[in-house]
Amino acid sequence: MSDTRPDRKNTEDGPVLRDHIYDGIQEYDQKLPNWWLASWYIFIVLFVIYWFLYYQLDLFADDKERVQNAVASIETKKATELEKLMTSLNDQVLWDMSQNAKIVSEGKATYDITCVACHGADLSATLSGVKLPGEPLNDAEWKYGGRPMEIFGIVKSGSPDVSKGMVAWEPTLGPKKVAQVVAYILSHHSPPEG
Ligand code: HEC
Repeated sequence: MSDTRPDRKNTEDGPVLRDHIYDGIQEYDQKLPNWWLASWYIFIVLFVIYWFLYYQLDLFADDKERVQNAVASIETKKATELEKLMTSLNDQVLWDMSQNAKIVSEGKATYDITCVACHGADLSATLSGVKLPGEPLNDAEWKYGGRPMEIFGIVKSGSPDVSKGMVAWEPTLGPKKVAQVVAYILSHHSPPEG
């Protein structure tokens, strides 16, 4: 390889050493390998195509739109799930669920994480004799009604007075877990005769 430019020199075995010296350091002036140059040019071309499709034609969703779409589809899915469950749910279905050991144990798992702090491990709303913030769920007294769908309603949508601490749990738990946790509460009660 030879290089005719005035500030370049060939060494014995090819590489060109530049005359320029800085801090006692002299540099080779070597041609970049072809594979490197090829990928460099390919990516320049790809960038231009990408830039044109993305920013000029706006053909693809950017991250923000993608997140918004994902959130929207989750919301729709949750809404359909709730709608479906609500049409199939009634007092009898919830009583039946409260007799199903698997559903009850899944409800207990949710209860022990989400509800236990205020309603107590034994649903008595006490801890070692000390009153907890929630209402007892194992007695026959129901502030908001003791029918399964009434219990489901308050767990799903929260207390009319949210400042008391009983928030709507459906948005965080989803309808299925709400139904399971209600089944767990009901498993401490018996269905009315008849
Ligand atoms: C931060 C404390 C807190 C947590 C956590 C909590 N609750 Fe409550 N809960 C309350 C309070 C306070 C009330 C009474 C609300 C009122 O008087 O309006 C209540 C009321 C209720 C009622 C109605 C009781 C009645 O007598 O009608 C049910 C059912 C209930 N909670 C179930 C649950 C379930 C199930 C969970 C878990 C998913 C849960 N709660 C989590 C504080 C809590």
